[in-house]
Amino acid sequence: MNLHSFLDSCRERVESALEKWVPAQTIAPQKLHQAMRYSLLGGGKRVRPALVYATGAAVGVDAAQLDAAACAVELIHVYSLIHDDLPAMDNDDLRRGKPTCHKAFDEATAILAGDAMQALAFYLLVHDTALAADATQRLRMVAALAHAAGSRGMAGGQAMDLANENREISLAELEDMHIHKTGALIRASVQLGLLSAPQLPAQQAGDLDHYAKCVGLAFQIRDDILDVEGDTQTLGKTAGADQKLKKATYPALLGMTRAKAMAEDLYNQAMESLRNCDDQADSLRQLAHYIIMRDK
Ligand code: IPE
Ligand code: IPE
Ligand code: MG
Ligand code: MG
Ligand code: MG
Repeated sequence: MNLHSFLDSCRERVESALEKWVPAQTIAPQKLHQAMRYSLLGGGKRVRPALVYATGAAVGVDAAQLDAAACAVELIHVYSLIHDDLPAMDNDDLRRGKPTCHKAFDEATAILAGDAMQALAFYLLVHDTALAADATQRLRMVAALAHAAGSRGMAGGQAMDLANENREISLAELEDMHIHKTGALIRASVQLGLLSAPQLPAQQAGDLDHYAKCVGLAFQIRDDILDVEGDTQTLGKTAGADQKLKKATYPALLGMTRAKAMAEDLYNQAMESLRNCDDQADSLRQLAHYIIMRDK
């Protein structure tokens, strides 16, 4: 399957599952459910769900058994975007080509929509009967996602991002920040796929985890590059936002050429991690390429 058909099929799967699991906007509290649906449905590349499904394909687990895991990572991701856009954080007005959640609704509703998405993510991992995981594997999935979302994962990385505004930091500090704020959830996407196949040899699981670490960091480097080189229309979010807030980014610290070389190097490392995998891992290979070459 080519990458675009694969991404389309992942998007369709995850959107129809989210549609089913997120309460209708007619259910009280209506405004909260309306805000959740507004931010979750329609728009977004759905890269993290695609990584869950592509990992499933690499280890022989059907997409139909991974919908809850795909939704769970997307729910944490969208919650992180809603909070990232708040005035207290990046103060952005545009997300996925439309007004940010706090602009379309209000700040309190945006905060609560994020909170509710985080809770729903864990609910799905525990309750969805179709998920390919017994009770022990579900607990491992919950722990992996909780670790990736928390103070030693995404939330911690976001705290570093804010603390590093207007500061000159070292490359090691910048890498640490990116690994946490973005890498952790991308790594968790692959981990949830791996946890659905507990008999997998440790060597193969380790290789796929290394793949995930490389693409996770590369993803945020590309995001930093696109903030400089992309346009608002294509990105669906305001270009140039990082420079305005004096964010610590790869292009700001290393310059554009070296930032691109770093992303390319991580891509090569990710591909090398898959050297012992057969063509069932091709969607993972295509996704790695997409992550460093994407234009939005
Ligand atoms: C944007 O993520 C925020 C980062 C972690 C870099 P995406 O680029 O995956 O955003 P969507 O989901 O496609 O909108
Ligand atoms: C966000 O990084 C990482 C998150 C955890 C949401 P950015 O602040 O660079 O993401 P964008 O550029 O607003 O999407
Ligand atoms: Mg941010
Ligand atoms: Mg932001
Ligand atoms: Mg950005």
